[in-house]
Amino acid sequence: MPLYPEYLIREVADKNDIRDVISQYVTLKKAGSSYVGLCPFHNEKTPSFSVSPQKGIFHCFGCGEGGNVIHFLMKIENMPFIEAVEKLAERAGITLPKPDEKDSARHAQMAQERDTIYEMNMAAAEFFYENLKHGKQAVEYLKKRSLSGADAKRFFLGYSKDSWDALFNHLKQKGYAESDILKAGLIKSSENGKYYDAFRNRVMFPIFDTRNRVIGFGGRVLDDSKPKYLNSPDSPVFSKSRNLYFLNAARRSGKEFVILVEGYMDVIALAKNGYINTVATLGTALTTSQAKILASEFKEVVICYDSDGAGRNATTRAIGILREHDVKISVLNLKDKKDPDEYINAFGITRFSNCISKRKTDMMYLIDTLEQDYDVTDNSQKVSFIGEILNYMKLILNPVELDVYVEEVSSRTKVSSNAIYSQLGIVKAVNTTPSSSTETPDITMIAQRKTVMSSDAALERTRELMLALLLANKSVYKRKKQSITPSLFESEVHRKLLSYILAFYEIDKAIDPTQVIDFFTEESEIREVSRILSLDNKTDDADKAFDDYLKVINERMNRKNILSQLNGDNPDKIEKLNKFIKNQ
Ligand code: CTP
Ligand code: MN
Repeated sequence: MPLYPEYLIREVADKNDIRDVISQYVTLKKAGSSYVGLCPFHNEKTPSFSVSPQKGIFHCFGCGEGGNVIHFLMKIENMPFIEAVEKLAERAGITLPKPDEKDSARHAQMAQERDTIYEMNMAAAEFFYENLKHGKQAVEYLKKRSLSGADAKRFFLGYSKDSWDALFNHLKQKGYAESDILKAGLIKSSENGKYYDAFRNRVMFPIFDTRNRVIGFGGRVLDDSKPKYLNSPDSPVFSKSRNLYFLNAARRSGKEFVILVEGYMDVIALAKNGYINTVATLGTALTTSQAKILASEFKEVVICYDSDGAGRNATTRAIGILREHDVKISVLNLKDKKDPDEYINAFGITRFSNCISKRKTDMMYLIDTLEQDYDVTDNSQKVSFIGEILNYMKLILNPVELDVYVEEVSSRTKVSSNAIYSQLGIVKAVNTTPSSSTETPDITMIAQRKTVMSSDAALERTRELMLALLLANKSVYKRKKQSITPSLFESEVHRKLLSYILAFYEIDKAIDPTQVIDFFTEESEIREVSRILSLDNKTDDADKAFDDYLKVINERMNRKNILSQLNGDNPDKIEKLNKFIKNQ
């Protein structure tokens, strides 16, 4: 696949000082052996963007972007790889050989294809919007949902005609190829190979990416027929799991919190009433990538899902996913109406704003909702209630925060906070801490819990620290290699990094940090590797650090294995969990 020989690409990266190149776009300040600045790839007020000239990489701890100098140029200038290499070669005065024509043609073709799809999606959105002018039914429908012509314009809403080929013909007339229209998901092919419009007789919601390009559509029926909503399939420009409806506007709102709702209509109702900081997922449940994006753009996520059972389940799930990221979480429970759109239309925005100001933290919401499912005056139910709520409280990593909710549960149930702590899995700590007989748990005990408790994020973080340590430290590897196995790691990237480390150290070669990243080609891998390389791995006692990491990884993996065996519907769940915790 590489267009130029690898050694030349390496030379181009080596001869362009990453700090010089990035300084043309970002003001950098020295911080230790690296430099920091405000990330150019997301909105931020405090710098989380770090550049290490020594390692030849950049990484943003806020949004996760990262890579070497070539990747930086690709992202900031929205340039394909080859072009970035060529530009940097020119900057460093390196002459590149004439590229292999086949490869460069393929690259150019893929970039061209994506550009065509963006452009075509925009043409489709315009077509849908124009259709509203003659789409009386659609306009009537929008009016019924309290949406005016101005709203349609603002949110670029449209209408797909009740026709099998209106859009297809329109796009063909504009010169687009059938194959591209198909790839964009705007048409489908029938069994006999004929094409027809994917969206027919629906109100259309264009979905934008953060660069304001149309990447896909959602479409709603005008009546009660099924399916109520259709969404574009994933395409070369559209990934449902990595984008959010209205994020392009929400991230520019300047607000610290974002409201996460279920539907397009909910977003519009809120944005129309001033809450531009609102987003929705794209017809699927919240994913880890989406949680990561929200955590990097906002300080707090306010979950405001439907008030029915499905909405409540989705809320609990979303809390679990968001808890893996560094972001405050709260929940808005709109009683009396199905969803935010209906709530605002029935009671007005002032009452909604009141709810916002009275929003509950995720844990308070969980405690309140679960408490209603149990009769805590009954001892057996009280025990079950505590068992259930502790399943969520184990997601809390901050010891002060944990203490607050342990106290809350304790005061509601009249069960001592010590007992709650020990059920949470810090039995050993309670027994060995001198202050264990007192009512208030000792802070060291709470801190210890941080390493006892399971959390996927913390486990991954420890694995990263171990890899960072090994990458920087051949002698630790030599001394500890007996205990280093691929089974300590789960992700493909981590295992690849380990095999890279092994390959070098086994033939007694030192690792050049500027070259590690060249080993990876996928964007997601590059981001991950740049983070690991950017971790501060200074330590006085590298052997001890290694042993600590190893212990934590093993403990957490054990715990995770057991937790994963506990099926969600298993009635013995709590008992098994308790047994396991006691045996720790
Ligand atoms: N959704 C979907 N496919 C469906 C139903 C729903 O993709 N068949 C997605 C859509 O993104 C929709 C969201 O789930 O916006 C929420 O769906 P739902 O709660 O059923 O609808 P509302 O948003 O309340 O829609 P409306 O108010 O238009 O009835
Ligand atoms: Mn609705």
